[in-house]
Amino acid sequence: MSDSIRFPESFLWGAATSAYQVEGSPLADGAGPSIWHRFSHSPGRTAGGETGDVACDHYRRMESDVALMRELGLNAYRFSISWSRILPAGRGAVNPRGVAFYDRLVDALLAAGIRPNVTLYHWDLPAALDDRGGWLNPDIAEWFADYARVCFRALGDRVPMWATLNEPWVVTDGGYLHGALAPGHRNLFEAPIATHQLLRAHAAAVRAFRAERRGTGEIGIVVNLEPKYPASDSPADQAATQRADAYMNRQYLDPIFFGTYPEELCAIFGEAWPEIPAADMSLIREPIDFLGINYYTRSVVRHDDAALPVRASGVRQPAHTYTETQWEVYPPALTRVLLWVKERYGDIPLYITENGAAFYDPPTATDGRVDDPLRVQYYRDHLRAAYDAMRQGVDLRGYFAWSLLDNFEWSLGYGKRFGLVHVDYQTQQRTPKASARFYAEVIRTRGAVLGACP
Ligand code: BGC
Repeated sequence: MSDSIRFPESFLWGAATSAYQVEGSPLADGAGPSIWHRFSHSPGRTAGGETGDVACDHYRRMESDVALMRELGLNAYRFSISWSRILPAGRGAVNPRGVAFYDRLVDALLAAGIRPNVTLYHWDLPAALDDRGGWLNPDIAEWFADYARVCFRALGDRVPMWATLNEPWVVTDGGYLHGALAPGHRNLFEAPIATHQLLRAHAAAVRAFRAERRGTGEIGIVVNLEPKYPASDSPADQAATQRADAYMNRQYLDPIFFGTYPEELCAIFGEAWPEIPAADMSLIREPIDFLGINYYTRSVVRHDDAALPVRASGVRQPAHTYTETQWEVYPPALTRVLLWVKERYGDIPLYITENGAAFYDPPTATDGRVDDPLRVQYYRDHLRAAYDAMRQGVDLRGYFAWSLLDNFEWSLGYGKRFGLVHVDYQTQQRTPKASARFYAEVIRTRGAVLGACP
């Protein structure tokens, strides 16, 4: 990699959050409960029984959080809308006070020169819809499109970037197959059904967007991609790597770009793999304007008969650094995944919609500093890796750090901190960490500072 780095002037420099993870006040102003409200209030579901009841109190501190983004020099902010603030029962009556919150947020961002990038679904399904089967009910495609339409009508005149779903793989794998995330099911038969309904819902929302829009906004989807490397040359490990890749990386992208599921899925799910109507697949193939990629880590894969249903498991790399969530730090896989998407799915505009790391942060020093050298290094190396992919022809248009703030890390509670900005959960005091100052410098110099040692 050469030393001189200069990202394009039009590049989006952002940070990301999601509604349930930062907002707090989940039932305020007429909002209905979401599955995450219900799940986190059920005994034994989250570390220490922690919930998103207060989180970062962003719902009440939104204006000062936008001011903080401005201070850091962000020109984009990715956030999600809580479906059950807009439609407390998931469908039917709109809650104007819920809409008003996002209306004010969008206006505050625009006034600060920050481009809003809105995700419609970041895991917080209205509980009332879960009572009707949630992502297993085929009607959810229409419920989701109706909700999306309310959002497009309320905010579409000012929001240039929309994503339908955040990480559908995690929704299915965590929510319906392994149960660590809401709604906490463990059912092999449900997983492919949830996947398929997520994809139908995504496509229905894209079609609603095309029908509604008069402006120039764009719509896409956000997937988490984790490149799979074989642990050895053995045919068993190679085949396991293909299965793991199909399950995690191609399961959502192949249907969207090619209108087919990867053939490995049928073998992975066996008798749980359902009949898929051909007509659904042509609808799912609805063209999108951009692809959002969340990248955190890679995995090195070996055949493992006990790891069902994929029969593959990850092999730890002792020489490498691991984050607090036990993810290997491996920046070259970011370059690789961006090139892979271009090669496999063609030249679609790409955004890195999440990238970041949970590391233990030392307590805030008395002079208000939080030094987080491992996170600084993580950002430096991954931004370099992203630039490397651009140099090799990838149409990468923006980067969103995960996350703006330390926040509620789902079933892991508040113990894992991903923020550029430290949050003292007792006082809600925000303190930009060294990584925030570093990122601000990257933005100010359009990446030039990344070329400097180390
Ligand atoms: C999710 C975030 C989450 C982050 C770190 C992503 O899978 O979109 O909500 O906090 O990873 O685990």
